[in-house]
Amino acid sequence: MLTFPPHILVTGGAGFIGSHSVELLLENNVNVRVLDNLSSGHLSNLPSHPQLEVVVGDIRNSDDVHTAMQGMTHCLHLAAQVSVANSVEDPIGSATHNILGALNVMHAAATAKVSKLVYASSAAVYGIPAQLPLLEEADLQPLSPYGLEKWVDERYATLLGSLHGLPSLGLRYFNVYGPRQDPSSPYAGVIARFLDRLMNQQAPTVFGDGLQSRDFIYVGDIASANMAALFSPQCGICNVATGQQIDLLELIDLLGQLTNCHLAPQHLPAKAEDIRYSCGDNQRLSEWLTIEPKWSLKEGLSELINYVRKPYFAHDQQINRRA
Ligand SMILES: NC(=O)c1ccc[n+]([C@@H]2O[C@H](COP(=O)([O-])OP(=O)(O)OC[C@H]3O[C@@H](n4cnc5c(N)ncnc54)[C@H](O)[C@@H]3O)[C@@H](O)[C@H]2O)c1
Repeated sequence: MLTFPPHILVTGGAGFIGSHSVELLLENNVNVRVLDNLSSGHLSNLPSHPQLEVVVGDIRNSDDVHTAMQGMTHCLHLAAQVSVANSVEDPIGSATHNILGALNVMHAAATAKVSKLVYASSAAVYGIPAQLPLLEEADLQPLSPYGLEKWVDERYATLLGSLHGLPSLGLRYFNVYGPRQDPSSPYAGVIARFLDRLMNQQAPTVFGDGLQSRDFIYVGDIASANMAALFSPQCGICNVATGQQIDLLELIDLLGQLTNCHLAPQHLPAKAEDIRYSCGDNQRLSEWLTIEPKWSLKEGLSELINYVRKPYFAHDQQINRRA
């Protein structure tokens, strides 16, 4: 239970993970200010709420960030260029968002002396795992500029902690899925894309044999981890993962059962850069933040399927939470 209404700046709050996090914070009587440039986020993702303020601005602009940080007690930094492929094609553009933009946010948070900065890192920092499940101490060998940028952010956050006493916690999210992930985006997660294909009676496409596995975590669990991290005294780096993996063929089978659309996948040539297996250790998550993922894959997929099947205008009323 919170003892006072904190004021939290959420960068990227109009996006997929951001909007779920904002909703959860508002339900817990927190005052929220969103800073978002609406490049992939949407105002329609956010509720109209007396404790919510939305500022359209860009993390690459330090004036926007310093102005938005004024009066804030905490910051949840999620805004990013989120495409791995884009980061390969345009590493400078990507770094401008993901390193310089992140540094603007961290510097403003340190200057404003917020009680806590929580920021989105990613499982992409690990690269090809030497062993599974991935522990936070594992060697980091990112395979993309995006993964490297997230790692640089972690190093900056640690350094600003030493230099300015900024308390921060970086969360390495694994593969996040759930309502509001846009399947039409070329960067959408594999679950959003498979489901979109199945709902349109099209075979899902898989690169290679489909035996590559991932640790899929429901967005509601990510929102819970974000909120717990904001009010936790723990600083450093923490995985946000389920600790379980499923391969893509099993995933397609499960989606087929839940949607009653059984379509064999279409196989395309394997991608050389595709990581074969991924799964995060979540012991630190349960020790530091005393939370466990509450949504099984089957439950989270069912929730997503319900959402996708409802007409657009009914979306606001139907996303369930777990206490
Ligand atoms: N979705 C995943 O599976 C996943 C996994 C690991 C890490 N992450 C990280 O989580 C965070 C949120 O990702 P998401 O999946 O919700 O993506 P998203 O694209 O839905 O959200 C990103 C938000 O940031 C905003 N934004 C982008 N650039 C901005 C800028 N320069 N200034 C202000 N706002 C800007 C976008 O408009 C959008 O609302 C990102 O940092 C991402 O790297 C996501």
